[in-house]
Amino acid sequence: MPLTYSEKVMDHFSNPRNVGEIENPDGVGEAGNPQCGDIMKIYLRVGKNADGVPVIDDVKFKTFGCASAIASSSMATEMIKGKTVEEAWAMTNVAVAEALDGLPPIKMHCSVLAEEAIHNAINDYRVKHGMAAVEASGGHSHHAPHA
Ligand code: FES
Repeated sequence: MPLTYSEKVMDHFSNPRNVGEIENPDGVGEAGNPQCGDIMKIYLRVGKNADGVPVIDDVKFKTFGCASAIASSSMATEMIKGKTVEEAWAMTNVAVAEALDGLPPIKMHCSVLAEEAIHNAINDYRVKHGMAAVEASGGHSHHAPHA
Protein backbone atom coordinates (compact mmCIF):
# COMPACT_ATOMS: atom_id res chain seq x y z
CA MET A 1 0.00 0.00 0.00
CA PRO A 2 1.48 3.38 -0.92
CA LEU A 3 2.19 5.78 1.94
CA THR A 4 0.18 8.96 2.22
CA TYR A 5 2.21 12.12 2.67
CA SER A 6 0.94 15.53 3.76
CA GLU A 7 0.96 18.38 1.26
CA LYS A 8 3.74 20.01 3.28
CA VAL A 9 5.93 16.92 3.00
CA MET A 10 5.34 16.84 -0.77
CA ASP A 11 6.07 20.58 -1.03
CA HIS A 12 9.34 20.39 0.93
CA PHE A 13 10.34 17.23 -0.94
CA SER A 14 9.67 18.65 -4.42
CA ASN A 15 10.93 22.15 -3.62
CA PRO A 16 13.42 21.78 -0.76
CA ARG A 17 14.69 24.94 0.96
CA ASN A 18 18.33 25.58 1.88
CA VAL A 19 19.87 22.85 -0.30
CA GLY A 20 23.62 23.08 -0.77
CA GLU A 21 26.83 23.69 1.12
CA ILE A 22 28.34 26.60 3.03
CA GLU A 23 31.97 27.36 2.29
CA ASN A 24 34.16 27.36 5.41
CA PRO A 25 31.19 26.62 7.66
CA ASP A 26 31.31 27.29 11.40
CA GLY A 27 29.94 23.80 11.98
CA VAL A 28 29.28 20.67 9.94
CA GLY A 29 27.36 17.64 11.08
CA GLU A 30 26.38 14.38 9.51
CA ALA A 31 23.89 11.71 10.46
CA GLY A 32 23.13 8.42 8.83
CA ASN A 33 20.71 5.60 9.22
CA PRO A 34 22.50 2.25 8.83
CA GLN A 35 19.19 0.47 8.10
CA CYS A 36 18.28 2.40 4.95
CA GLY A 37 21.73 3.87 4.22
CA ASP A 38 20.40 7.42 3.99
CA ILE A 39 22.76 10.26 4.94
CA MET A 40 22.15 13.89 5.87
CA LYS A 41 24.77 16.61 6.13
CA ILE A 42 24.15 20.02 7.74
CA TYR A 43 26.33 23.13 7.34
CA LEU A 44 26.03 26.07 9.77
CA ARG A 45 27.06 29.70 9.61
CA VAL A 46 26.99 31.07 13.16
CA GLY A 47 26.97 34.77 14.02
CA LYS A 48 25.99 36.81 17.03
CA ASN A 49 22.80 38.73 17.68
CA ALA A 50 22.67 42.24 19.20
CA ASP A 51 23.09 40.73 22.68
CA GLY A 52 26.18 38.76 21.62
CA VAL A 53 24.30 35.46 21.70
CA PRO A 54 25.33 32.94 19.01
CA VAL A 55 22.66 32.61 16.30
CA ILE A 56 22.26 30.49 13.18
CA ASP A 57 22.84 33.06 10.44
CA ASP A 58 22.63 30.49 7.68
CA VAL A 59 22.15 26.78 7.28
CA LYS A 60 22.30 24.47 4.29
CA PHE A 61 21.88 20.74 3.85
CA LYS A 62 22.71 17.88 1.56
CA THR A 63 20.62 14.78 1.97
CA PHE A 64 21.04 11.53 0.13
CA GLY A 65 17.85 9.94 1.26
CA CYS A 66 14.17 9.28 1.01
CA ALA A 67 11.42 11.85 0.51
CA SER A 68 10.74 12.12 4.25
CA ALA A 69 14.42 12.71 5.01
CA ILE A 70 14.64 15.46 2.38
CA ALA A 71 11.40 17.12 3.56
CA SER A 72 12.61 16.88 7.18
CA SER A 73 15.97 18.48 6.30
CA SER A 74 14.25 21.29 4.44
CA MET A 75 11.77 21.99 7.23
CA ALA A 76 14.39 21.66 9.99
CA THR A 77 16.72 24.15 8.30
CA GLU A 78 13.83 26.60 7.92
CA MET A 79 12.98 26.16 11.60
CA ILE A 80 16.47 26.84 12.97
CA LYS A 81 17.48 29.68 10.62
CA GLY A 82 17.76 32.91 12.62
CA LYS A 83 17.34 31.07 15.93
CA THR A 84 19.91 31.04 18.70
CA VAL A 85 22.22 28.03 18.78
CA GLU A 86 20.54 27.00 22.02
CA GLU A 87 17.08 27.12 20.42
CA ALA A 88 18.37 25.17 17.43
CA TRP A 89 19.72 22.49 19.77
CA ALA A 90 16.34 22.20 21.47
CA MET A 91 14.46 21.51 18.23
CA THR A 92 13.29 17.91 18.22
CA ASN A 93 12.51 15.56 15.36
CA VAL A 94 8.92 15.46 16.68
CA ALA A 95 8.65 19.24 16.21
CA VAL A 96 9.95 18.86 12.63
CA ALA A 97 7.44 16.12 11.87
CA GLU A 98 4.62 18.21 13.36
CA ALA A 99 5.64 21.21 11.27
CA LEU A 100 5.33 18.93 8.23
CA ASP A 101 1.76 18.05 9.31
CA GLY A 102 2.98 14.63 10.28
CA LEU A 103 4.98 11.79 8.77
CA PRO A 104 3.75 8.23 8.29
CA PRO A 105 4.69 6.33 11.50
CA ILE A 106 7.21 4.10 9.72
CA LYS A 107 8.89 7.27 8.40
CA MET A 108 9.33 9.04 11.75
CA HIS A 109 12.92 7.78 11.96
CA CYS A 110 13.74 9.84 8.86
CA SER A 111 13.12 13.05 10.83
CA VAL A 112 15.55 11.84 13.51
CA LEU A 113 18.36 12.29 10.99
CA ALA A 114 17.65 16.05 10.96
CA GLU A 115 17.82 16.35 14.74
CA GLU A 116 21.01 14.29 14.89
CA ALA A 117 22.77 16.08 12.03
CA ILE A 118 21.95 19.48 13.57
CA HIS A 119 23.22 18.30 16.98
CA ASN A 120 26.43 17.08 15.38
CA ALA A 121 26.86 20.36 13.48
CA ILE A 122 26.32 22.39 16.67
CA ASN A 123 28.82 20.23 18.53
CA ASP A 124 31.32 20.69 15.71
CA TYR A 125 30.80 24.46 16.03
CA ARG A 126 31.18 24.26 19.83
CA VAL A 127 34.39 22.22 19.73
CA LYS A 128 35.90 24.49 17.04
CA HIS A 129 35.16 27.46 19.30
CA GLY A 130 36.68 26.03 22.45
CA MET A 131 33.48 24.74 24.06
CA ALA A 132 32.79 21.19 25.15
CA ALA A 133 30.55 19.05 22.96
CA VAL A 134 27.10 18.43 24.41
CA GLU A 135 26.30 14.79 25.07
CA ALA A 136 23.48 13.74 22.73
CA SER A 137 22.52 10.33 24.04
CA GLY A 138 21.13 8.32 21.17
CA GLY A 139 20.08 11.42 19.27
CA HIS A 140 17.09 11.94 21.55
CA SER A 141 18.69 14.10 24.20
CA HIS A 142 16.91 17.28 25.08
CA HIS A 143 19.60 18.82 27.25
CA ALA A 144 20.24 22.45 26.41
CA PRO A 145 23.84 23.39 25.75
CA HIS A 146 25.44 25.79 28.17
CA ALA A 147 26.64 28.31 25.61
S1 FES B 1 14.11 5.74 4.74
FE1 FES B 1 16.09 6.35 5.30
S2 FES B 1 15.87 8.30 6.08
FE2 FES B 1 13.93 7.80 5.33
